[in-house]
Amino acid sequence: MTDGFDPYAPSSDERYAAMARLRSTGDVVETPAGYYIATAAGVEAGLRAVEHFVGSFIDTSALPEDDIPISAIPEPRHGPIRRVINTVVAGHRTAAAEPFIRDQATRLVDRALATNRDAGAVDLVATIVDPLPSLVIGYMLGVPVDDTDRFRRWSDELLHAQGSGPPRGLFDTHPEFGSYIQGLIDDRRASTSDPDDVITRFLHSEIDGVQLSDRAICTQTMNLIIAGNETTRNLLGNCLHTLATDPRLYTQLREDRALAPLVVEESLRHDSPIQVLARAVLADTAIEGSPLREGHRVVFGVASANRDECRYNDPAAFRIDRPRPRDHLAFGTGPHVCPGAALARLEGLAMLDAFCDRVASFELGEGFTPVPNPVFWALGQRFLPAVLIPTARLGP
Ligand code: HEM
Repeated sequence: MTDGFDPYAPSSDERYAAMARLRSTGDVVETPAGYYIATAAGVEAGLRAVEHFVGSFIDTSALPEDDIPISAIPEPRHGPIRRVINTVVAGHRTAAAEPFIRDQATRLVDRALATNRDAGAVDLVATIVDPLPSLVIGYMLGVPVDDTDRFRRWSDELLHAQGSGPPRGLFDTHPEFGSYIQGLIDDRRASTSDPDDVITRFLHSEIDGVQLSDRAICTQTMNLIIAGNETTRNLLGNCLHTLATDPRLYTQLREDRALAPLVVEESLRHDSPIQVLARAVLADTAIEGSPLREGHRVVFGVASANRDECRYNDPAAFRIDRPRPRDHLAFGTGPHVCPGAALARLEGLAMLDAFCDRVASFELGEGFTPVPNPVFWALGQRFLPAVLIPTARLGP
């Protein structure tokens, strides 16, 4: 059945109300994008059932293997590639990056305060929210930090281009971006030393005794850059938006920084940066009692699952006193669960700490209305014009 629900429409209160109706009936509805799963139990079960579902918003079935990004790679090929990525963003590496991340967050907040002082207001997205994730992912991957503005632009252009035309791999969708990564691969090959970075790790990886091709390394590296950028910036922007519209919560957070992880987790649940995940059905199965046939497309409603009243009291409220704050599906679950979750959380904490240290209070520009995120699967702020009151006078 279909009830006119569009899983790819921009987020709104009406859309959340429609999701709540779907959860209450338990219906799996047919939409133009595929069968939509609204409940937390259904989303969780589906994301774990990798033998029945394969990921991707675009149809990757006709793409060469080396052009397929990790989220759309089935087992057993997924495992070895995933292990390389795990080592790049492993806990100890993320912890080692903390001083860099905190320094960058502080520098960006200081820059926002300087703009605010000179212009009377500042766009927090342009000054803090957008630059931080691209600097951090560049640093983690071992690519030149000076180039990270380009990554962000390329990442935006690539996501924009992906929605149109026939399915293409990431390299073909954005050859300039792909050629840049190929240049980094060539540099690593020519180098006499072995830097500790993602490309070198991919170069040393084998699947069933066969080295990864340059094309596969380009695909996975480009995908990591996009995955680290588009999602984390949405988390950061959503956190600042919530705090700007709830000054009491901001004051509470400034007075007790131990609340910062709870603000980050509740933001991830309440305003899921990834609203939906798409899959193709590999073999006949069922979700929540509804049959799904091989070849069907399915959309897992992460945002809906995170507002499921079977799991959360008062799910539409932003509450930092939830008993199990990390109990949400914003990072997915199962074998494809986000490997960058710890990094994203750390970026959120670093930004909140730097902001609370330096900004006594802030409010959004008069008449501010959120601009819908142009990325159909994402929820995040593209502009946050704000007036900041600093904690102390800035230097000259
Ligand atoms: C708030 C920030 C983030 C959110 C909400 C988020 C969310 C997710 C979700 C829901 C998935 C599962 C996708 C699926 O099942 O198809 C995922 C996978 C992935 N994420 Fe993240 N992510 C975030 C940050 C990051 C960062 C910082 C990185 C970079 C290291 C990253 C890299 C990846 C990769 C490579 C995958 C694919 C994993 C696989 O298929 O095995 N993510 N992410």
